[in-house]
Amino acid sequence: MNETWTLPRADDFHVHLRQDEDLPLYAREAARHFARVLVMPNLVPPVRTSQEVSAYLEAILCAAPDLHPLMAFKLSPDLTDSNIHELAKVGAVAGKVYPEGVTTHSENGVQDLRQIGHLLPAMENHALVVCCHGEKPGIFCLDREEAFLEEFSEVAAAHPQTRFVLEHVSTAAAVRRVAELGPNVAATITLHHLEITLDDVIGGNLRPHLFCKPVAKRASDRQALRKAAFSGNPKFFFGSDSAPHRMDRKECASGCAGVYSMPVALEGLAEVFDAANARERLGHFVAGFGADFYGLPRTTQTVTLIRDPWTVPAVVDGVVPYRAGETLAWRIQG
Ligand code: DOR
Ligand code: ZN
Repeated sequence: MNETWTLPRADDFHVHLRQDEDLPLYAREAARHFARVLVMPNLVPPVRTSQEVSAYLEAILCAAPDLHPLMAFKLSPDLTDSNIHELAKVGAVAGKVYPEGVTTHSENGVQDLRQIGHLLPAMENHALVVCCHGEKPGIFCLDREEAFLEEFSEVAAAHPQTRFVLEHVSTAAAVRRVAELGPNVAATITLHHLEITLDDVIGGNLRPHLFCKPVAKRASDRQALRKAAFSGNPKFFFGSDSAPHRMDRKECASGCAGVYSMPVALEGLAEVFDAANARERLGHFVAGFGADFYGLPRTTQTVTLIRDPWTVPAVVDGVVPYRAGETLAWRIQG
C-alpha cells in the first residue's frame, strides 16, 4: 500500500488567472487544485474599479464555476475613498500595490508606497488587505526587495490597524522584517522561491521558465524562506504567484517573468516540507494561516496525497509548468 498524507484543502493567496481565451485554462486548473485563490489584477487594462472586479469575477466563474475566487483590485493613488467603498461592496478582499515597472503589467505603478497612504483609512474601514509587490523601482534588481522594506515598514507601522501582505518574499531581509513588524503584517511565500536560487535561473544555461519577479536570490535567502515556511509562524503562508506565460513569450529574446507552478503546487510543497521533516507544518501553511489573516473561515474539506511518483508534463495548456519533465514523489489522490 502506498503511503498517504491527508491535508486540509489548500488556499492559494496569490495567483494570476489572465484573461480572454487564456482565462478558462488557468481558472479550471486553479479549481482543480485549490479551495480558494486570491486573483491578482495585473491585466490589460488593470482591474481597478468595482465594475471591473464584478466583470472579472463573472468571467472567472463562467469559466470555472467550481472555483472560489477572492478578488483583488489594483490599488493606485488616483482611486478615491468612494471607489474603495464600492470595491468592498462588490466583495473585493484586497488591493494590490504595484511599484512602477517592476513586473508584468506594472506600468503606471507607484514610485513609493506612501503615494497610496491617503487610501489606507478607507482600506482599513472596509477590512481590505493591502497586498504589496515589494520591489523598489529604479534599483538594481537583486536589491529591489530590500530597498522596498524601508517605506513598507514605515507605512505598516504607521497604520497598525491596516493589514499588509508583502507578496512573494524572496530575501532573508524581507523575512526578518515581516517577523519584526506588528501582527498587521504578513507575507506570502511561493513554492519556487523555496526551491530555486538565481543559480538555477542563470548560473548554468539560461532557464527562462524559472525567470520570475522578484528573481530568485541566494541560497542564504532561500534558507531563510524555508525556515519561515517551516516555522509555524502564522505571518508566513502560501501564495504560489503562479504566473503562466505561453512558451513563445518565455522562449524568446525578451521573455516574460513568471513561473507556472499551479499544476504542481501542492505536490511540490509536499516534497519540500517532507524533505525538511516539517510535514506537520504544511497544513497551516497552505490552509490556515492565510485564511486567518484574511479573516476567512478555514476550509473544511481535505485532500489526500499518495506517495506515487509521477512525471510532470512538458507542457500544460501551452505553458511549460514548473518542474516540467521532473518526477514528483507525491500525487493528489483522485
Ligand atoms: O514573475 C512574476 N510574474 N511576478 C509577478 O509579480 C507577476 C507575474 C505575472 O503576472 O506574470
Ligand atoms: Zn504575482
